[in-house]
Amino acid sequence: MRSGAKFITVEGVDGAGKSTVIAEMKKFLQQCGLQVLLSREPGGTPIAEEIRHLLLSDTLTGISGESEVLMMFAARFEHLRRVIIPALEKNIWVLCDRFTDSTFAYQVYGRGVSKDFVEQLSNLVHRHYQPDLTLLLDIDITLSKARLSAKATPQNRLDSDLNHFQQKVREGYLTLQKEQADRMKRIDANQTIDKVCLDARKQLLKSFNIAKKS
Ligand code: TYD
Repeated sequence: MRSGAKFITVEGVDGAGKSTVIAEMKKFLQQCGLQVLLSREPGGTPIAEEIRHLLLSDTLTGISGESEVLMMFAARFEHLRRVIIPALEKNIWVLCDRFTDSTFAYQVYGRGVSKDFVEQLSNLVHRHYQPDLTLLLDIDITLSKARLSAKATPQNRLDSDLNHFQQKVREGYLTLQKEQADRMKRIDANQTIDKVCLDARKQLLKSFNIAKKS
């Protein structure tokens, strides 16, 4: 049975600043007196982290987009059943770095997998567990690339280096956001990271009946 706890996801292209924003959101929700669990996809359980390791490694170079999707959903099924649903049932808010919108953005809009293929799997795996709120950190690809190179973050197999690919992923996210504007809120991630965090907090206050405790 779902309690009052919410399932919140954060999305965006690589280099949009998700990690910093998510850490700040967690702090803010805790200051509102809520219990919060932070997780990520692909990953979140030992088995799903193994799948993540494989997905991000060069071992899978040449894998079809469809097989990539099936592996994402295998990891997601584990994550949902073992971590996300039990937490929500215990009234713990779940804050997740990426979820199924990433599969639409990267595998459908980025790699050309059919939307229907992902929609069917999404219905099978989590029809009753959609995020209550998704924040899309939207950033220009030139800026996200500059941020990534400043951090010297090593690229993984799925962070395709091609500007063209990242651009398709960004546009895919914007399409999803327009289609599901009630759930998915765009935040301008071209701003300073402090301003992005502030906008994320404002959105939490707007979406949910919460208040920071003094
Ligand atoms: P990660 O290093 O965590 O990237 P980031 O910090 O930007 O989240 O790697 C996760 C990669 O997995 C990222 O490039 C996006 C990709 N991904 C997909 O392609 N499909 C998916 O469904 C998910 C969840 C992630």
